[in-house]
Amino acid sequence: MRICVIGSGYVGLVAATCLAEIGHEVVCVDSDLEKIARLNEGQPLIHEEFLQELLSRHHKGRLAFSPAVEASIRDAHTIFIAVGTPCTPSGEADLSYVESVARTIAQLSEGYKLIIEKSTVPVYTNDWIERAMVMNGRDHNGFDVVSNPEFLREGSAVTDFLYPDRIVVGSRNERAARSMREIYKPIIDGTYELQASAVPRPEGSRQKPFYIETTPQSAELIKHASNSFLALKISFINAVANICEAVGADVEHVREGLGTDRRIGPDFLRAGIGYGGSCFPKDIAAFRAAAHACGYELCLLDQARKINEDQRFRFVKKIRKALWTLKDKNLAVLGLAFKGGTDDIRQSPAIEIIQSLIAEGCKIIAYDPAAMQRTRAVLGSAIRYATDSYDAMNGADALLILTDWKEFGMLDLQKVKACLRYPIVLDGRNVYKPSEMQKAGLNYYSVGRLPLEISHSSAKRASALTQS
Ligand code: UDX
Ligand code: UDX
Repeated sequence: MRICVIGSGYVGLVAATCLAEIGHEVVCVDSDLEKIARLNEGQPLIHEEFLQELLSRHHKGRLAFSPAVEASIRDAHTIFIAVGTPCTPSGEADLSYVESVARTIAQLSEGYKLIIEKSTVPVYTNDWIERAMVMNGRDHNGFDVVSNPEFLREGSAVTDFLYPDRIVVGSRNERAARSMREIYKPIIDGTYELQASAVPRPEGSRQKPFYIETTPQSAELIKHASNSFLALKISFINAVANICEAVGADVEHVREGLGTDRRIGPDFLRAGIGYGGSCFPKDIAAFRAAAHACGYELCLLDQARKINEDQRFRFVKKIRKALWTLKDKNLAVLGLAFKGGTDDIRQSPAIEIIQSLIAEGCKIIAYDPAAMQRTRAVLGSAIRYATDSYDAMNGADALLILTDWKEFGMLDLQKVKACLRYPIVLDGRNVYKPSEMQKAGLNYYSVGRLPLEISHSSAKRASALTQS
């Protein structure tokens, strides 16, 4: 099929590349000309496993990047909308980009168009796109609008697209539904995986995805409800972690006990400094606003958001308590991205914590395997940037771990101790076991577990609890 993807952000770029990988002719367009120029030079723009490989495989073959938005729309039969839907100050999703794209499609279209809404949008957006098409002179028979939300996670976006748990399609008629089955056929029937050059299926993923056909409203709600539910799970475990701290329980044990109940499941129950990124904070606010607009107050989400924000303040308080005072302290920070595996720092808890620490007079030296460049664009010279993890901690008063990159969980702890001025580690992502820290002779503060203070009498109590 000939497909046009509008928007070359995380969602649009990954979707365009993976649609080419499963056999379609794709042109990805963006109004940001610089992005398109860089993509045409072969720069992937984002850090994603397998993306560079697939771009090299298809760029200038089945995949093209073009600044010619209008011509590309005119030529395509099938159009994916993947433009941004940022948050307005009142929490609603700003749909002005989606509207403007719909208007452009209506004005330029000749012949039938299948319009697929891929951006995360509130319920009824599909209806609004349809209305915009009709208001701009298009006949109902000359187009279909389908809601096809994307569930990809940054860091594993390519495999999430190619081996999804489910594909959700909200359409109004069989004509559109049939085309959608055609687009995703190699993923639905598992034939993609059989190709010699296929990206390998990640362990634990479904052999064939669930294919869910429903109405546009249900598809739109599935996306907002999914992201909100995952955020609720994280805030729930963080609230439990805070109770664990108060009573001397261990949240990692509680998580195991909770997550092994198959009805609950183990995922998204990792306690820490909270969720960030371009989706959860925005989608929770947008779902809350959409529910309000249709007359239902989803206050549950307010609490999830509040718990999430408090997690960062609580962690800064924990740092202050561990270091006595903060002014003029030299702190090594490992992790800037909102989670491991990505260079994205949008709404990153790590960046917010660093900003609070700078405001308290701390001096920060940071390292992240992928997000340094993006952080420089935001924090500039307000912090220093290290060349690797150990360089960051050289002579620092304490080490803070703020992102769950795998390599941060594999440090040589003896070397950590030797590098630091004081043997203090504050782990905002619980990447270590207290017993490992104890063995290395490090004072260790994490989330939802007792502090391990080597030089303090409570260390004995903490280690006894850890061993039990
Ligand atoms: C965004 C939303 O945040 C997400 O919720 C939604 O599901 C998809 O869009 P992301 O791809 O990460 O996700 O956004 P962003 O990186 O901002 O990319 C959007 C792209 O669309 C940008 O490159 C922007 O230049 C482009 N765009 C925006 C257009 O091409 N035309 C427009 O009119 C507006
Ligand atoms: C999320 C959804 O998972 C994805 O389906 C959707 O399409 C886009 O939004 P993403 O934002 O890329 O994906 O990352 P995700 O892995 O969901 O993590 C979001 C945040 O939650 C990160 O800051 C992460 O560190 C945090 N998190 C995640 C926790 O704090 N604890 C957990 O147990 C899981």
